Amino acid sequence: MSLLIRGGRVVDPSQGLDRHVDVWIVEGKVAALGADLEVPKSAPPPRVLDVSGCVVTPGLMDMHTHLREPGFEHKETIATGLAAAAAGGFTAVLAMANTLPVNDTPAVTELMMRRAAAAGGTRLYPVGAVSVGLAGTELAEIGGMQRAGIVALSDDGMPVMNARLMRRAMEYGHMLGLPVLSHCEDYGLSHGGVMHEGTVSAALGLPGIPAAAENVMVYRDIQLAAMTGAHVHIQHVSTAEAVDLVRRGKDQGVRVTAEACPHHFTLTDEAVRQYDTHTKVNPPLRSAADVEAVKAGLKDGTIDVIASDHAPHHVSEKEQDYTAAPSGMVGLETSLGLSLQLVHEGYLSLPQWIAKQTLNPAQLLGLPHGRLEIGGVADLTIFDPEREQVIEAGALHSRSSNSPFLGWTLRGTAMVTIVAGKVAFERL
Ligand code: DOR
Repeated sequence: MSLLIRGGRVVDPSQGLDRHVDVWIVEGKVAALGADLEVPKSAPPPRVLDVSGCVVTPGLMDMHTHLREPGFEHKETIATGLAAAAAGGFTAVLAMANTLPVNDTPAVTELMMRRAAAAGGTRLYPVGAVSVGLAGTELAEIGGMQRAGIVALSDDGMPVMNARLMRRAMEYGHMLGLPVLSHCEDYGLSHGGVMHEGTVSAALGLPGIPAAAENVMVYRDIQLAAMTGAHVHIQHVSTAEAVDLVRRGKDQGVRVTAEACPHHFTLTDEAVRQYDTHTKVNPPLRSAADVEAVKAGLKDGTIDVIASDHAPHHVSEKEQDYTAAPSGMVGLETSLGLSLQLVHEGYLSLPQWIAKQTLNPAQLLGLPHGRLEIGGVADLTIFDPEREQVIEAGALHSRSSNSPFLGWTLRGTAMVTIVAGKVAFERL
């Protein structure tokens, strides 16, 4: 199958490319890039996609998703999660380890990879647990999982409370070339809390999670990264102080990178006022000052990556009272439209926004993605930055629809997602 993508604005920050050129894809690879491309007469006629008005980029990557299989298939399966990813414009996702069983052995890693291969489309890269059962006491089978295919380590969903264990994880990670992705939460401070601790939690009478619960762990992990030489990546940064700690860590030469999630730079704790459990997420929606600091961190490069933290939950689980409902929201199909708002508002240039979802995650994970070059694997995302999309539960590809953005109209829509030269999703 060959594809000719005509009329798009091709933006690839890895080579400073931002031009209206056509892209010709043959047998899964980029065969040519250029203005008004003519396919040689000797070649089979390609399928032509007219994408005028759209942006064509290296495939977007989401380095923070929960696909729930094995164990929680009522929330999501690998197949439905990857379909949601493709519909959201993602050609690759990292799947966290908080499945059941936990991805703490090569057997679970292999199962995830087999299921993803069977589903086809968007690529899945498994993340291995730091600790057995995410229990925080004993290191998981890190070497075995790496041979099976994990690309990073994380107990995400749970913090690694034991600093000694985190130190060991970083030492192994460093030796094996695996970054440690850290869910920063001091459980002693956060335990029992269900939303950001502040005036809104006080008014609502809900137990709070103070910003300090995140900050102290970000500080600890930057210290451990400095000590071990390991690469630590701070997940879902939500507080002003955490942004500042990462900034200072980078200034000091520590190998620290960070991600922010669209909900954390779009909503504040004010969104919780209606007690809508779709707003319950961990770390929680923070204050307006925190939101501004996260945006500033994205703008100045302190925050390297935009990641969704796609966390599907079944409607029966979210239809409980606020304290009982699980944390998390689906994000794969809203991430593009929500985060493009940063471009519309002038916080990021389009190439900066693209880099945070292509080159930056690929580089920090050491994955062969994030570039659109002749001879390279044809993973591409085509999106219309102006096309509006109304978020409706029934239209989502995810098995779950727990989103505080239902009913919102987002400006920017994924139009075609191409993985290894094949169309994994299209809305043309
Ligand atoms: O809100 C969250 N949901 N935060 C996490 O860290 C885990 C996630 C989940 O797995 O549901």
